[in-house]
Amino acid sequence: MRQGSTIVGLGRYLPGRILTNAELARTVDTTDEWIRSRTGVEERRIAAPEEASSDLAYGAAREALETAGIGPAEIDLIIVGTTTPDMVFPNVACLIQKRLGTRTVGCLDVSAACSSFVYGLSVAHGAIVSGQAETVLVVGAETLSRITNWRDRATCVLFGDCGGAAVLRPARKGDGFLSFTLGGDGQGGDALQMKAGGSRRPASYETIERGEHYIAMNGSEVYQFAVRALCDAAAQALREADLGPADVDFVIPHQANIRIIESAARRLKIPMEKFFVNVQRYGNTSAASIPVALYEAAAAGCVRDGGLGVLVTFGAGYTWAACTIRWGGGIRRRA
Ligand code: ACO
Repeated sequence: MRQGSTIVGLGRYLPGRILTNAELARTVDTTDEWIRSRTGVEERRIAAPEEASSDLAYGAAREALETAGIGPAEIDLIIVGTTTPDMVFPNVACLIQKRLGTRTVGCLDVSAACSSFVYGLSVAHGAIVSGQAETVLVVGAETLSRITNWRDRATCVLFGDCGGAAVLRPARKGDGFLSFTLGGDGQGGDALQMKAGGSRRPASYETIERGEHYIAMNGSEVYQFAVRALCDAAAQALREADLGPADVDFVIPHQANIRIIESAARRLKIPMEKFFVNVQRYGNTSAASIPVALYEAAAAGCVRDGGLGVLVTFGAGYTWAACTIRWGGGIRRRA
């Protein structure tokens, strides 16, 4: 059995179009002040009409491979976390496998809403530790703008489009991922869902008339769950690594709402300065939120070799996930 796995490259893809709160306030009954004070969001990215999630995933994957110094031929497994695949099938992982020109490797999409990227990291870690794979590409990519009801002020101010990616390789003992915790509770399913477009309610004129192909959310219920889930998941991942809040150097939380992050920081007793926040620029980008935040935290010098980090997220399902990582120490070359 291998010792562990770690991240050796990160990438990000940002659609060019920036939609500000002021612009939104011209189309729905809201204000920049309301959105900033309730969510922390100032602007979000919107994919171009010809762009789909696989385009965002591909852009992020290319950069992650470049920063890792790894060619597509070295990839053994591709995992894509997304709630907004280009189509029901083929999956996004196959779409980017073709464009990257990798070997005919395993291609898997993970569907756990905003928790999908951390779920994907966990699958990748397992594949590396078991010896099934040496180099795994994990991507989170979303075009939430395509399932957003732009006339519903309660949801349309929250979301955005982005892609983020990480390349995982084996690590020396004590470096890289130290623990993972994954959770799910289907009792929360009604609070956050897209009702139609699947096998229970296939697309029809009626489902479209009722707006059932959009995100439907009970905001306050999700809010309460989110704070609890972030705290419990982060605390459990730390416990499983025999660590405590005082050991943490940086936290990459799911970027859904600044108030959720601040509440979680207070409850976890980890100073807010250790939490990386970019929700103001992108809104909630679901599966892309953690890899894009991690990319920017690393670029800003908030994530340093030897530092202990926690990645923690929650999403529809309900789902939640967290992991701890000792940054650095990747073994880049095949033995
Ligand atoms: N502009 C102005 N007013 C608004 C807006 C808006 N954009 N949206 C709602 N309001 C109004 C409501 O109608 C309500 O008015 P009323 O009191 O007259 O009825 C009032 O503001 C307060 O609404 P609340 O829903 O109580 O506002 P709250 O402070 O709870 O904030 C929010 C709402 C931001 C949605 C919050 O509940 C939240 O962040 N929830 C969690 C959302 C989340 O994290 N989702 C994760 C999605 S993850 C995934 O898997 C896709």
